[in-house]
Amino acid sequence: MGSGSCVDPLPFLADMPAITATAPGKIILFGEHAVVYGQPAIAVPVNQVKARAIISAKPGQPRGSLYLQAPDIGLDLRWDQLPPDHPLVLVIKGVLKKTQIDQPPALTVRVTSTIPMAAGLGSGAAVSVATIRAFSEFLGRPLPNDEISQLAFEIEKLYHGTPSGIDNAVITFEKPIYFTKIVNEDTGKVETIQVSNPFTFVIGDTGIPSPTSAAVGDVRKAWQADGVLFQELFENIGEIAKKARQAIEIGDNAALGPLMNENQILLKKMGVSSIELERLVQAARRAGAHGAKLSGGGRGGNMIALATTESALHVADALTEAGATNTIITTVNNQ
Ligand code: MEV
Repeated sequence: MGSGSCVDPLPFLADMPAITATAPGKIILFGEHAVVYGQPAIAVPVNQVKARAIISAKPGQPRGSLYLQAPDIGLDLRWDQLPPDHPLVLVIKGVLKKTQIDQPPALTVRVTSTIPMAAGLGSGAAVSVATIRAFSEFLGRPLPNDEISQLAFEIEKLYHGTPSGIDNAVITFEKPIYFTKIVNEDTGKVETIQVSNPFTFVIGDTGIPSPTSAAVGDVRKAWQADGVLFQELFENIGEIAKKARQAIEIGDNAALGPLMNENQILLKKMGVSSIELERLVQAARRAGAHGAKLSGGGRGGNMIALATTESALHVADALTEAGATNTIITTVNNQ
């Protein structure tokens, strides 16, 4: 137990049933990159893909025997055999600290995910959120959402340079959000958006892995080299995100397509689009999408196209024909 602890003793864990928690993927609708510099951005969960963490007791094993399994990446080790800065080890340590438990009980943490990695869908943050949620619940001390999000953010910062915090927030709260990073503070304001009129979009994967940290780092260098241009780009993107929030809240979905197209022009000026992303964006528009843009860090990864329930399949087919390695059709609502 933690020193000076006023928390209850641990339940008899060997008898505990396995605890499972999941966390969805995410997509940025408006405002990526500019959000790192204090502009608002809009993100929504993508429930078609998920990270899952299952915690099960290992009866008969001494305390501290904690095993980490992630079959997707061939990981199956005791946690103290992993580097101390491994993201899963950091998740475990973070939960133990927050729940004031010094020595973890004997257990296995098994993590799986259907979220493509390095594709702008928040795979890393989703694995952290699912594991934090399942592990803290298993310990009998489920953490509230704001603490889950904050802990996932700490891990994002170690692995993704200077993230805004939007990914961990939308993945934890599992709702459409309007997020504003509070610059020079280690936190952000999370507001839930009320969707008046659900809308459908298609996600198209270029199949090109593109770690967000690299794109964010390059934008930072470009901003340092030309602060005036980049400040203007960020502010214009922020204005688009504000207008998009209003449109979503009043149910004016027709306004969203042109705003996506405007956002894409600014992202291209920022240098984070690519030939493959542009090809998919154009193909979606030709197939009748009302708007299309890259989503997330850019360079590779995913793009999104605003469609209707009727046109979504046709847009998805057009994306596949234009080279998309995967497509997902998803509808944004209040869930
Ligand atoms: C990543 O999903 C979106 C970026 O704006 C980075 C961030 O906000 O942390 C590119």
